[in-house]
Amino acid sequence: MGMRVIQRIGEMQSWSEGERRQRCRVALVPTMGFLHEGHLRLVRAGRERSDRVVVSIFVNPMQFTPQEDFDAYPRDFERDCRLLENEGVNVVFHPPVEEIYPEGFQTHIDVERLSAPLCGAFRSGHFRGVATVVAKLFNAVRPHVAIFGCKDYQQLQVVRCMVKDLNYGIEIYGHPIVREPDGLALSSRNAYLDGEERQAALSLSRSLRKAELLVSQGERRGSAIVDAVAAELAKAPLARVEYVTLCDAASLQEISCLQGTALLALAVRIGATRLIDNVQLGVDPIPSPAPA
Ligand code: PAJ
Repeated sequence: MGMRVIQRIGEMQSWSEGERRQRCRVALVPTMGFLHEGHLRLVRAGRERSDRVVVSIFVNPMQFTPQEDFDAYPRDFERDCRLLENEGVNVVFHPPVEEIYPEGFQTHIDVERLSAPLCGAFRSGHFRGVATVVAKLFNAVRPHVAIFGCKDYQQLQVVRCMVKDLNYGIEIYGHPIVREPDGLALSSRNAYLDGEERQAALSLSRSLRKAELLVSQGERRGSAIVDAVAAELAKAPLARVEYVTLCDAASLQEISCLQGTALLALAVRIGATRLIDNVQLGVDPIPSPAPA
């Protein structure tokens, strides 16, 4: 059976209801298109966890701040469809903007505390836009499981919280960050980088590896870790740091000392392109002495 492209919410819901009636488990991979290998790995993770895979492609105007790149955001629907057909995807959900935000639309979802720090502090209204569109995609596709990438870690936590708070009953799987062999996290926005910027972009993953090294050597002070990361980023002349933050991996609240599972997250501008990356820094609890 070929891959189906669905543009209307009603048709998407009927398709999903039909699959559910046949006891098929449905996975959703939400995307904004211009797909790369990172997206395709999410699709494969979806296939492993379900009987049917829906990929949504929707460049969501609500999550772009006015000065951001909504109009310029890269798009190539034909190519995306070819890639997804090769992955055995069942449905591409590709609604026009008016289908998602018709005249008179005025309901929003705010996941308040998780949306405030990190990227939320620099992209006002971004996570409100993300939570609102993801809620609508969930209501259109009615999946059993949805796959998100850990590259957008704050987004993943916002979605998890929304699912819990609003009783969506959808399993959320967080897929590890997919990287180029040289360490750069895959992103649709990497397409904006020229040769020199592409080199400078390596400073993000390099600085995170520096943090991992320090922690493996016993460093636990937040300031020492954050300073070392900032120093590594400063070596790349084209990189301008937006934030480098060590926080609790669940609450995203800043921490001054490594404990439990921490997240080191950063956002950096390389020329006009804003890139993000993160790493989880787990500290193993001190092993209790073996019983005598
Ligand atoms: P987009 O940037 O297209 O990303 C779609 C999904 O792919 C997200 O869950 C993102 O975390 C994941 N992803 C992107 N690059 C990745 C990488 N290198 N490794 C692992 N996962 C990666 O995120 C969005 O779209 C939108 O905000 C969306 C959730 C679709 C709502 O509009």
